[in-house]
Amino acid sequence: MPKMVISDVPDEEYEGKRVFVRVDFNVPIRDGVISEDYRIRRAIPTIDYLIDKGARIILASHLGRPKGIFIPDLSLKPVSYRLSELLGKPVKFIGKVIGNEVKLEIEELQNGEVMLLENLRFHKEETDNDPNFAKELASLADIYVNDAFGTSHRKHASTYGMAFYFNLRLAGFLLNRELKFLTRIRENPEHPFVVIVGGAKIKDKIHALKNLLEKADKVLIGGGVAYTFLKAKGVGVGDSLTEDEMIGWAEEALKNYGDKILLPVDHVVAESIEKRKTYMIVDEEIPAGFKGFDIGPKTVRKYTSEIKGMGSIFWNGPMGVFEIEEFSVGTTHIARAIALATWRGATTVVGGGETISAIRKAEVLDSEIVHISTGGGALLEFLGGEELPGISILNDKVA
Ligand code: 3PG
Repeated sequence: MPKMVISDVPDEEYEGKRVFVRVDFNVPIRDGVISEDYRIRRAIPTIDYLIDKGARIILASHLGRPKGIFIPDLSLKPVSYRLSELLGKPVKFIGKVIGNEVKLEIEELQNGEVMLLENLRFHKEETDNDPNFAKELASLADIYVNDAFGTSHRKHASTYGMAFYFNLRLAGFLLNRELKFLTRIRENPEHPFVVIVGGAKIKDKIHALKNLLEKADKVLIGGGVAYTFLKAKGVGVGDSLTEDEMIGWAEEALKNYGDKILLPVDHVVAESIEKRKTYMIVDEEIPAGFKGFDIGPKTVRKYTSEIKGMGSIFWNGPMGVFEIEEFSVGTTHIARAIALATWRGATTVVGGGETISAIRKAEVLDSEIVHISTGGGALLEFLGGEELPGISILNDKVA
């Protein structure tokens, strides 16, 4: 059922109202410096819209997993500075989540002004979905907006419990965009449809993979996932990391979908990451004593030529240990092939934290991918067909 979006509500509803926007500002920060601000930039259209409508905007997010204790490095203060730069206006930050001081600051908030609360997870009650905490959060606002797609799979106070106190429970523009593209991938992809799967583990993405195997015309496999599939096929993978408990499942997948699954035909191997300077390229089998760290050049050619003629493309997970120069070539070529496919008119959707870093490393621009999902776990659960609590609680769109 489509969800009601902030633009579905008459403008007058917002003037002077306190609007609580759950955003996902869980971004990498080191020594106060944000290394990847994609999630913050993606929230701007919703915030701009609400500013324009004269709302008083209260933003809330988690950062990391502090488990109910205050950890200075997990404060959202650096995010408030970045957000202020992006919005081109001040963002109030008072370093608290609930309580009288927060309420007083909100009282003072003028129409069109923006405030960011401190990390919600400094309170254990957030992840516990504690009813009192949820009620306290809800008492801060008149309207509830979820624009945190990346956290919508969590049944927490700010993504679930508090929403029930509001008549208006709306989707922000980012959430709406995620639902539009990911629903299309999940239910009705444009054919021919290719799925590219990499990353370390099958287990994390098994439900999504099951669904995508049904929908896709081709599934290109790389990364750690490939070694488990190759082992299931009886191909020697040397000392590469495999998930032995998933071999049975991989065998079954190869039996049922063998005609659409493509596996690497050559590999970049080394004895260990430390011995990367002495890497080799091998065909088919990986010799004992060696580990696969990237797909090889023949596989790159094969995969990129598949990507070329596709109507839609979904990519999750790097093809190798792309953070290391010697093992980054496969991932970089895949990223660039997907960017080219966008220019050729394909609907390209990419997701997962590592995959976004891989795009950056390959110097592919955001505009060269039709949709870059801000979801990690949420994306995989959504594609696995699960109903996400943070989405189910929103108002249905009125026909
Ligand atoms: C993410 O980064 O995937 C989201 O922000 C959710 O974070 P979590 O896995 O700590 O709930």
